[in-house]
Amino acid sequence: MRVLTTGGAGYIGSHTVLSLIQAGHEPVILDNFANSSPEAIRRVSELVGREIEYVEADLLDAERTREIMLAGNFDAVIHFAGLKAVGESVAQPLRYYRTNIVSTLNLLDAMDEAGVRTFVFSSSATVYGAAGVARCVEDLPLGTTNPYGATKLHIEQILDDLAASDPSWHIAKLRYFNPVGAHESGRIGEDPRDIPNNLMPFVAQVAVGRREQLSVFGGDYPTPDGTGVRDFIHVVDLAAGHVAALEALPAHAGSRAWNLGTGEGSSVLEVVRSFARSSGRDIPFTIVDRRPGDVAELVAEPSRARAELNWKAERGLEEMTRDSWKWQSQNPMGYVEEETA
Ligand code: NAD
Ligand code: WQD
Repeated sequence: MRVLTTGGAGYIGSHTVLSLIQAGHEPVILDNFANSSPEAIRRVSELVGREIEYVEADLLDAERTREIMLAGNFDAVIHFAGLKAVGESVAQPLRYYRTNIVSTLNLLDAMDEAGVRTFVFSSSATVYGAAGVARCVEDLPLGTTNPYGATKLHIEQILDDLAASDPSWHIAKLRYFNPVGAHESGRIGEDPRDIPNNLMPFVAQVAVGRREQLSVFGGDYPTPDGTGVRDFIHVVDLAAGHVAALEALPAHAGSRAWNLGTGEGSSVLEVVRSFARSSGRDIPFTIVDRRPGDVAELVAEPSRARAELNWKAERGLEEMTRDSWKWQSQNPMGYVEEETA
């Protein structure tokens, strides 16, 4: 399939573009490089041994989005593009609502006009909000605790309403748990622009010496070691989940949610220990207060994706920390270093 991949230069998008090509599909990247670099596309090209078509564009530009869609002869769209930092969304709610929701509306309008009605959306386990249950099934009542999460929930609702209005839409809402790791080559990976918000990139930067120590947010949760438990999923498994969803969608009219997680929880301290083993480096940490908005435990029930998409995560925590370290140690300053070298 010829697949417009918005946000395809980003962390999850770049790994998915690689998987799509390896599965025989033809991704075309649309990205404004707000949080990514063309260097990521260059490196994916290098890994697959061919050029990758891409266009620099902003989905907030409705007319440009429409032109690209009408001219592109696409079979489907995978929509990664958007803003994703929870804390930033609390400080800049309008920017988050505008970027995430308006750009999705622009894209869906353009798709409708072009008659392209197969859509894979990057949703998030954040839509389970403060559910307070450890193991999330897709049919749980949803809720959110911050504007970023609210954008995902609103978009899910928009997609449900759209599918209900016209049965020719085939929509996958993929709820990612905690994507981590990198391609095993160490050539592409996660490259946060500022201080990382998420655990794994922060730990990686401590290991490589960019940051002094990790603050562990909370040591008194009702979990086996008192630290938060999450369902970390290797980004290469996540990428494969997109290919599986794309290939399964023709059999699924309407709008449907699938969790992409492993079903296994790991605590913050387990991640730190695994990273220390993988890197052979010390990871100094201090336990500090809980971070507002965090829950004790959030783990996927992944059986729906297994049954309906024929997909399951294959990689465990050791592979996640190993590959994250490979990327971080080979690219201590991310993509920027090579560009300016
Ligand atoms: P990322 O920031 O690396 O990738 C997003 C890409 O979208 C970037 O390349 C950015 O330049 C591009 N972009 C942003 N605004 C754009 C616009 N207006 N027009 C065109 N391109 C634009 O993030 P990621 O981690 O790869 O996440 C991809 C998607 O998955 C996002 O929608 C995110 O909300 C969702 N998600 C991420 C996580 C996670 O922990 N990484 C978890 C759940 C869901
Ligand atoms: C994991 C655990 C922290 C950093 C976020 C978003 C979610 C989704 C995935 C996009 C928690 C602890 C973290 C640190 C720490 N993204 N931690 N020290 O919060 O589960 O999910 O990313 O959709 O929407 O909320 O991930 O990696 O930030 O935290 O102790 O410096 O690590 O308290 O227990 P989270 P995370």
